[in-house]
Amino acid sequence: MFAQVMAAHAARVETCLSEMFAEADDTRLNRAMRYAVLAGGKRLRAFLVLEGASLYGVRPQQADRVAAAIECIHAYSLVHDDLPAMDNDDLRRGKPTVHVKWDEATAILVGDALQTMAFEILASPRSAADANIRMRLISSLAEAAGARGMVEGQMQDIAAETASPPLTLEQITTLQENKTGKLFTWAATAGPVMGNANTELMRSYAAAIGLAFQIADDILDVEGDVAKAGKRLQKDSHAGKATFVSLLGVEGARQKAAALVEQACDVLEPFGGTGDNLRQLARFIIDRDM
Ligand code: IPE
Ligand code: IPE
Ligand code: MG
Ligand code: MG
Ligand code: MG
Repeated sequence: MFAQVMAAHAARVETCLSEMFAEADDTRLNRAMRYAVLAGGKRLRAFLVLEGASLYGVRPQQADRVAAAIECIHAYSLVHDDLPAMDNDDLRRGKPTVHVKWDEATAILVGDALQTMAFEILASPRSAADANIRMRLISSLAEAAGARGMVEGQMQDIAAETASPPLTLEQITTLQENKTGKLFTWAATAGPVMGNANTELMRSYAAAIGLAFQIADDILDVEGDVAKAGKRLQKDSHAGKATFVSLLGVEGARQKAAALVEQACDVLEPFGGTGDNLRQLARFIIDRDM
């Protein structure tokens, strides 16, 4: 069953992260970092790394570390996203957010430290023996996470709350590509990068599921259940933010997401049966209630 595949992949990355923290001192900062990165989460980006790595013949021990790195970046982005100055959220993955459980300064520093931890992981020869491959992973992650990627997307997302006139579909699509799409793409292409192979196929797959993921997140915000999602919902509409749902309606958004998933599955054609886990992941991304 796909749920078991997901759980097994999540367990791999969580074991790898736990081992990394086992070597760290028992400081307030390390405890809060552990809380942020080890507490639940669907591990979708890790899943993409692990599946991509397996399709391109990469050793699992290396893939686990690269998956851990992207989950550190993702966890950092969530800790900062939840801060009072940003989305001001008190619940994440079903637990109090880091600034609520600890304090704001700690949450800022946890995010900072998780971000540098990701690059430290990638810089180790244990993540990829070939220094050129390590360099490609590091520079592409810096680009995907920074001012031409996730951070710029977060900036655009905040501006979208007060934009007049509201953002167009095209502008929201660009915003999404930055905010969530580029980290998905990095995760999906890490496998072929590590395997020294062409990244185009995984890139097309990730573009489609990344957009479908964000549409699903916007639908979840409107009609999800807090207990299942583990985070506060109805935030976007209250903020008056233009989203895929505000522009297309729930049904329109659902149809667009479903079309993107079909597109993603078509892209996987050359993999035959070995692409099945990625096909199921694409479907999960729009069917999820969390
Ligand atoms: C939530 O990401 C934040 C967005 C990018 C919209 P996920 O839905 O992947 O969060 P976790 O990791 O499963 O908690
Ligand atoms: C967060 O987007 C995206 C990043 C952290 C990069 P949202 O603000 O929509 O995520 P949720 O809904 O709080 O998980
Ligand atoms: Mg946000
Ligand atoms: Mg948020
Ligand atoms: Mg959201």
